[in-house]
Amino acid sequence: MGDLAYKLMKATESAAVASYGLVGLGNEMGADQVAVDAMRTALNSIEIDGIIAIGEGERDLAPMLYVGERVGTGAGCKVDIAVDPLEGTTICAHYKRGAMSTLAATEKGNFLYAPDVYMEKIAVGKNITGDVISLKNNVEKNLDNLAQINHCKVSDLVITVLKRERHNELISRIRKLGARIKLIDDGDVSAVVSLLNGHSDMYIGIGGAPEGVLAAAALNAIGGYMEGRLIFNNEQLRERAMEVNIYDTEKIYTVKDMVKGESVFIATGITDGELVDGIKINKDGDLLISSLIILPNKVLRMQTTSYL
Ligand code: FBP
Repeated sequence: MGDLAYKLMKATESAAVASYGLVGLGNEMGADQVAVDAMRTALNSIEIDGIIAIGEGERDLAPMLYVGERVGTGAGCKVDIAVDPLEGTTICAHYKRGAMSTLAATEKGNFLYAPDVYMEKIAVGKNITGDVISLKNNVEKNLDNLAQINHCKVSDLVITVLKRERHNELISRIRKLGARIKLIDDGDVSAVVSLLNGHSDMYIGIGGAPEGVLAAAALNAIGGYMEGRLIFNNEQLRERAMEVNIYDTEKIYTVKDMVKGESVFIATGITDGELVDGIKINKDGDLLISSLIILPNKVLRMQTTSYL
């Protein structure tokens, strides 16, 4: 897994460098497109027999690597790859914190083939069980249970939520309980994975399903607990579910349902974020590129230099 991760880091680095060129220029589509193109080119130069199992972009008609697309030279191990070449398109375009390029991989057949729909998610950075926090519970019970297991008061908890209108009710219920909310503009892969650093106690809310599987690949390797429920709330989406052989549209997926074997997760920073630093330029004009690699039971922080 380690060798594979080092090889794949080339793909997130290439995508991050490409998007970095468009940071702050207000061109979301352009930043996404260059990341996708750079990641595809890099992946195709790596000795793997890869298939894109999770691609992101279908939901918002953004550029994407297609689900089912073969990547790699065709030699080497058979791997399923989940990609988000530019996670945080808007934050990249607006030069805000937390834009990154990310990818996860596992042996062929191990990822949940989640289409690019929304996913209701709940996650914590501790190895606890669904008896403590679960999408089956209401938010009041989840916060109460989490406070009990953390030996603290609900008002000591910090809960990360994406700032979206659809979360207004959730936000006011959390506030009523007295917990603090870390409202984020975008980037719930980082929000979930950085739970492992203790930056917040829980992530809750609705985000993209591909981002859910990517985050699950990180938690699968290093710990933490997460549940996700795919949202198929209209006829068109229910047909989409059938196309990918999902018949139980209410199913709650745990990390092990989303990633069935060993996995690696890689993130390369574009702008500074909670999880990984962004790209910097040193006095010689070289790019300093920071990445995070999460392997089974191991976290590596990498820094490479690229010459402009
Ligand atoms: P992009 O990389 O497509 O910009 O996604 C950013 C993101 O904030 C994700 O982290 C999150 O899962 C999703 O968008 C939420 O979707 P929406 O912006 O439609 O609410």
